Amino acid sequence: MSPLDFAYLADLLKQRSGLILTPDKEYLLESRLRPLIRSRGLTDFREFVSALRTGDRSLANDVVEAMTTNETSFFRDIKPFQLVRNVVLPALLAARTGTRQLRIWCAACSTGQEPYSLAMVLDDERARLDAWTWQIVATDIAPSVLTKAQNGLYSQFEVQRGLPTPMLLKHFAKAGDSWQLKDEIRRKVMFRTVNLLDDLRGLGRFDLIFLRNVLIYFDPDTKRAILDKVSHQLAADGFLFLGGAETVIGVTEAFEPVPDQRGIYRPTGATPIPPIMSKTAPPGLAGARA
Ligand SMILES: C[S@@+](CC[C@H](N)C(=O)[O-])C[C@H]1O[C@@H](n2cnc3c(N)ncnc32)[C@H](O)[C@@H]1O
Repeated sequence: MSPLDFAYLADLLKQRSGLILTPDKEYLLESRLRPLIRSRGLTDFREFVSALRTGDRSLANDVVEAMTTNETSFFRDIKPFQLVRNVVLPALLAARTGTRQLRIWCAACSTGQEPYSLAMVLDDERARLDAWTWQIVATDIAPSVLTKAQNGLYSQFEVQRGLPTPMLLKHFAKAGDSWQLKDEIRRKVMFRTVNLLDDLRGLGRFDLIFLRNVLIYFDPDTKRAILDKVSHQLAADGFLFLGGAETVIGVTEAFEPVPDQRGIYRPTGATPIPPIMSKTAPPGLAGARA
């Protein structure tokens, strides 16, 4: 690939998705775009870039989709889900007795394991959430991962990665070689295509936002812009979770870390979390790998 073609593709990707492609990632670009070039009946990158230069939007979307990294798993890193159960839910249940409503946003949800893990945690709290309404909105830039997420059908390999056996048996039914998530969990999650670079105000206000393992792909200005927009979608006493390699420190003033609770952030100036009733992890989560 010529340096000019690489520069064109890297710029297109940054403008349309925020994803940063450094020159050492040329191999990634080549391996991920080659099938796309072939499927369009084109012969090489020069022809491919020429087609993009004509303003072919659907091809540009395909480039973005091909370049996203969709790595995810059920109960990824486990700790955030334990914190939701043991810290966030008690605080929100105390704070929302007036409305008895909870809205959760899972931004950059990939193939759905993350929002469904949250839905399973909340379902386990059925007794405490009796007479409450709760909803999870799960979004991603890539329509193909959302289609898979919506189907709720996972391979044996996928369910073995992080999903505790009691939860698998409780919430899934065997479907041939795969596992089908039951409707009662699926219908709690609403999937939508959303680009984090776009205006996010239409999504409304949330009590809890998971924005995990996506900021790592952006440059500092893009991280700040996204975090600042996300801060407007979070209730003043809400909670934000980032991935283990992500932080707000040195990026934005809109959020501050919750002391001693790694990975949780709150809007700057939020009232401190009320004293937490100490709870043990649920049987399913207790057995999950840390
Ligand atoms: C590594 S996955 C993270 C999935 C999940 N949050 C987790 O932690 O397991 C990153 C996801 O971010 C999505 N993504 C990348 N750029 C995006 C953007 N500009 N807007 C929305 N989603 C984006 C990708 O499509 C991909 O599914």
